[in-house]
Amino acid sequence: QRILFVTSEIADFVKVGGLGDVSSALPRALATHHDVRVLIPAYREMIESEHEIEPVGHLAAFAGLPACDIGKITCDDGLIIYVLLCPELYQREGTPYGRGSSGYGDGQNEGWDDNDIRFARLSRAAADIALGDAGLDWQPQLLHLNDWQCGLTAGYLHWQGESVPSVFTIHNLAYQGIFNASRRETLGIPQEAFHIEGVEFYGNLSFMKAGIVYASHVTTVSATYAQEITTPNFGCGLDGLLRCKAESKQLSGIPNGIDDSWDPRTDIHIAQAFSCNDWRGKRVNADYVRRHFGLAAGQGPLFAVVSRLVHQKGLDLTIEAAKTIVHAGGQIVFMGSGEHHVEEALRKLAARFPGAIAAYIGFDEHQARCLFAGSDFLLMPSRFEPCGLSQMYAQRFGSLPIAYCTGGLADTIEDGVSGFLFNDMEFGSYMKSIQRAFTVFKSTDLFNAMRGAAMAGRYHWRQSIEPYSRLYQQVLEKQGDKTQ
Ligand code: ADP
Ligand code: GLC
Repeated sequence: QRILFVTSEIADFVKVGGLGDVSSALPRALATHHDVRVLIPAYREMIESEHEIEPVGHLAAFAGLPACDIGKITCDDGLIIYVLLCPELYQREGTPYGRGSSGYGDGQNEGWDDNDIRFARLSRAAADIALGDAGLDWQPQLLHLNDWQCGLTAGYLHWQGESVPSVFTIHNLAYQGIFNASRRETLGIPQEAFHIEGVEFYGNLSFMKAGIVYASHVTTVSATYAQEITTPNFGCGLDGLLRCKAESKQLSGIPNGIDDSWDPRTDIHIAQAFSCNDWRGKRVNADYVRRHFGLAAGQGPLFAVVSRLVHQKGLDLTIEAAKTIVHAGGQIVFMGSGEHHVEEALRKLAARFPGAIAAYIGFDEHQARCLFAGSDFLLMPSRFEPCGLSQMYAQRFGSLPIAYCTGGLADTIEDGVSGFLFNDMEFGSYMKSIQRAFTVFKSTDLFNAMRGAAMAGRYHWRQSIEPYSRLYQQVLEKQGDKTQ
């Protein structure tokens, strides 16, 4: 099948979080069975890369969205990426969403002022390509849309009476792309769509809602999160709509995976390759981390945090736990960027406990891998987690995750076997799981057995091919029935 995978970030060039990893790995995994191509804005990182961008298409202006060109990048492994060439919208200093944004610039309190135009432009481009109106020599049979940034695509097609099959994947329901209703005409959204069963959300426009309402099928990135978002606690105001989708079998969860590059036996980034039971090799990585991040040499447990520094990730709990961890002989390395006040709190914490706590504000893929390889435990008390990749990376590198039992964390961590889960989202419950980790650390046999189990976990993208393929087939067949 010919599938256009539409996304706002891809780790090959630029990523803010897990969506970038998924957009790089999933189309490649699916490429063994399908002709999958990617569509993404041509950010500065693409223009400045070594890759040749071949001009292949053109898109007309639409409502307030400017005309633009389409370029084609062919990656070394053959993956084809169509890039949307519109310098005034996409070639900026900063992340894909804002000047220094940790989130997904969803229109509420952060990000570029014209993110509605920027991502409506992306969405409209996908619709035009699907309709064969972009001058490309290729036309998809199905659209795979990701998060609010592509939400309007299915709407644009619906509003003009076209029925191109589409799958809309929610990576994070908390970022919805909510914009002022006065922008409706500029974005080319018809008046009839501005109602409760369309894109209207508490008087505003919601791109996320458009994706959920108009796509043929909605998925999210773990089975547990698929269920959670149908409840008021996790539904971010859309749980009613999602319950309807679930009842009509149009909502499902397909877990993310990790790719072959995450292998401690072959990873060239880490200080020393190691495998299961080679705990001396892992130790070399721990020593490297301590040296590199300026911690004292030590024998105690080494904790890592690799995270966007946002409320979702529960960093406030880890900051609160830090003193106890240090007093019990542990050390912590934080890596990440995000909300300013969290960055500041981490800097202060590191200054207060030199040698025991280090904070690297920013993100460095190479050092992130070293951290997974060198640490004994990963602290990830996310309040909600659609899937989460960091806990899978950590397990593969023999670092046991300590996490709240929610979403993809609940689905990928086996409590007491490959990590530690706590059941109440509050400090005491988290602290108990950290104490369990200290106890396990002291019992060498148990600790080694758990690390072994974590490393043996099977979270590969290969496992997602079948469910996605089945879903694509089902969506295409259903659409075929409708048009016959
Ligand atoms: P999320 O997508 O919510 O951030 P995931 O666990 O799915 O959570 O994915 C996190 C991915 O993003 C990992 O590859 C991690 O190493 C990376 N990452 C974490 N913090 C940052 C950051 N500040 N900038 C860029 N990438 C980051
Ligand atoms: C989101 C979620 C994360 C998920 C990632 C990729 O950013 O927060 O849980 O793993 O998307 O799907």
